[in-house]
Amino acid sequence: MERVITLVDKLAKSHVLSREEFSFLLDNIGEEDTYLYGKAREAALANYGNKIYVRGLMEFSNYCKNDCYYCGIRRSNQKASRYRLSPEQIMECCSIGYGLGFRTFVLQGGEDPWFTDEKIAYLVERMKKQYPDCAVTLSVGEKGYDTYKRWFDAGADRYLLRHETANPCHYASLHPPQMSSEYRKECLHNLKAIGYQTGCGIMAGSPYQTTAHIAEDLEFMHGLQPEMVGIGPFIPHHDTQFAKEPAGSVEMTLFLLAVIRILLPKVLLPATTALGTMDPLGREKGLQAGANVVMPNLSPVKNRKQYELYDNKICTGEEAAECRGCMGRRVASVGYELVTERGDAV
Ligand code: 5AD
Ligand code: FES
Repeated sequence: MERVITLVDKLAKSHVLSREEFSFLLDNIGEEDTYLYGKAREAALANYGNKIYVRGLMEFSNYCKNDCYYCGIRRSNQKASRYRLSPEQIMECCSIGYGLGFRTFVLQGGEDPWFTDEKIAYLVERMKKQYPDCAVTLSVGEKGYDTYKRWFDAGADRYLLRHETANPCHYASLHPPQMSSEYRKECLHNLKAIGYQTGCGIMAGSPYQTTAHIAEDLEFMHGLQPEMVGIGPFIPHHDTQFAKEPAGSVEMTLFLLAVIRILLPKVLLPATTALGTMDPLGREKGLQAGANVVMPNLSPVKNRKQYELYDNKICTGEEAAECRGCMGRRVASVGYELVTERGDAV
């Protein structure tokens, strides 16, 4: 369809569209795919060549004080079997990861009050001291400016905090009343202001999501100019109130990856585990749609299944080394090269 091509060209040239134009693209997913994905790959190639960056993901606690309706580790899920890694176990994961060539460590967890601001700061300091050539990424939820600043001063380089949805009403349909999209966005602006390489993001196909909401998300991303964006399909978890909701589609996820690659050409964009869960070749397809990051799991295998944000999560039985090898082969299978450099935003 001609208008789709015109809009993709316009996006590639001016790196922004109006909400109405984004909505039009989203309402015509499937039209001129080849053109869209071609443009997305072109943008990735121009900025990063055929390199794919690797991040060692450490899911260090599944305790969470929040109660997001979609999430399997939400506070009110009594059936979740809870664990937290000790700082020693986390350092051991880093050591394994470093040996495998990882130069970015991502500390991701629920909002676990046991890990006080001080403990996280100490952990970051320890990691940076032991591995000064590595980047440390935090993904531990909403905190005030001072806490984010303290962790930044301790050496943290990057922070992932998906905004989940930019639309306040949609946000309220996914979260309990104590949480708000305003505060979420404020956190992201604070992270940027402090100097973190900052990541926002959404789930594709989350309950009640409309194309108008996604158009708002894209507009929000244009305003924030994040260095990273996390996009994966929503996948229901059996012990949440969204158990019976349909999962987001692979097609929509790939479409969003491509649009975001063109909107923010230099963005670091992972082919997520959720995408790989929905389709055995999902991550490979993600790379072909413009993603340039993969995040194999470094957490101890015995805890992998417990970090169950959604059902049927992949990579829960493999040791870090197996995941690393598997990922290298997957990346190579679609003509890219997995590289071990830090992979900072350019
Ligand atoms: N399906 C897909 N992604 C999910 N997340 C949480 N629950 C789910 C789910 N059921 C995502 C959220 C969160 C990130 C860590 O994982 O977007 O920000
Ligand atoms: Fe984990 Fe393939 S990436 S086993």
